[in-house]
Amino acid sequence: MSQQLAALYPAHLQSVMAAATRALELGGYDHLLIPSGILTYRFLDDRPYPFAVNAQFKYWLPLTQHTDCWIHFTPGAKPVLVYCQPDDYWHIPPSPPSGFWVNHFDIRLISDPADAVKHLPTSGRLAIIGEANAALPGLTPNNPEVVINALHWARSAKTDYELANMRLASKRATNAHRAAEHAFRQRGSELDIHRAYLAASGHNEFDLPYTNIVALNEHGATLHYQYQDARVPTEHHAFLIDAGAEVNGYAADITRTYSFADAEFGELIAAVDQAQLALCDQVRTGASYPGIHLDTHRHVAQILADHGYVNMSVEAMLEQRITSTFFPHGVGHPLGLQVHDVAGFQESETGGFIARPDGHPYLRMTRTLGENFVVTIEPGLYFIDTLLKKLAATEHGKALNWDKIERMKKFGGVRIEDNVRATSNGPENLTRDAFAGV
Ligand code: GLY
Ligand code: MN
Ligand code: MN
Repeated sequence: MSQQLAALYPAHLQSVMAAATRALELGGYDHLLIPSGILTYRFLDDRPYPFAVNAQFKYWLPLTQHTDCWIHFTPGAKPVLVYCQPDDYWHIPPSPPSGFWVNHFDIRLISDPADAVKHLPTSGRLAIIGEANAALPGLTPNNPEVVINALHWARSAKTDYELANMRLASKRATNAHRAAEHAFRQRGSELDIHRAYLAASGHNEFDLPYTNIVALNEHGATLHYQYQDARVPTEHHAFLIDAGAEVNGYAADITRTYSFADAEFGELIAAVDQAQLALCDQVRTGASYPGIHLDTHRHVAQILADHGYVNMSVEAMLEQRITSTFFPHGVGHPLGLQVHDVAGFQESETGGFIARPDGHPYLRMTRTLGENFVVTIEPGLYFIDTLLKKLAATEHGKALNWDKIERMKKFGGVRIEDNVRATSNGPENLTRDAFAGV
């Protein structure tokens, strides 16, 4: 597999360099400098926060745990990597640079972060993209918007190297999803299931691409449920898990929902699954992503009608925005180096903002899909107390089948989330392929 990545990496780096050259040209800059980032510490404490690398840095090469490093790119020249290997006996310093990417960089080893300036230009027109705290004397990140926008724009279309990493991340995550389902069937607690996920994925808490959502029963109705309860619930009704994995800095973001034994909840999961597959099928080059989101509301309305939750027509439900009570988030987002990847609203390479459709404040992408964009498709249908109460208080409250809804609350809700690549030949569903062992 690393042979495959090694073969694909040079073309990826070429396209990153082309994007950087274009971004510098648009902004009128000579050099691009990108710090990986520094460790930051908790208030009045000597304990650092977990390190999260600058995504602009890991766009160039698969280093995700390396603080105090810099990339320097001048169009036409081999990119420079300033690589910090502190002489440290408290921590394990990074090992010497190795891997398929090293020959593509002019590597300068330093042991003191401040020495980076000796290897970087400090004159000329510099675009420095990083957090303010990564500054060194003469090198203060200025984050020119036009340069960032151009780089973000380029990141939307994934290279073959990036797609290969995302397929690997999907496999890593789906293996762990299987282990999590098994732990649920064994009647584990949320914490037991979370640990089973970590063990099977080989991740720890800190290198997951995002905090796992491991929700038993009614917890599934909290969209970003943030705890992992150590107590085993009295009964296992339902399990919603939203958990990812990362390979070389690229993320998978996958959700599955399971019924322990209840047929009615099982039918609801099957209905959402069927709708989700139809939505995934729309992920094609040229498709409108907000269009897919609006279609999701139509599917949710159909399910609410078919399963007898709401006694209204699909059209009436859409008109009165009833579906937003049951599906109160967006259908998904771009995915890549960041779980909620960049440029979801961008109008062109120089910036701009494509507004969300009215009444859809949580949609995270409004663009038309391009070739090799990767997005998530994550419809949901939940029984959320606070939203249901608000709906009950309106004139439409009487159209809801409250007995049925009350009965379903203990299951929380359903979300099914896949990672899908758009091409002009149709979608590639990275998640379903990974579950199927493709
Ligand atoms: N895991 C967060 C999301 O699905 O967007
Ligand atoms: Mn997602
Ligand atoms: Mn997710």
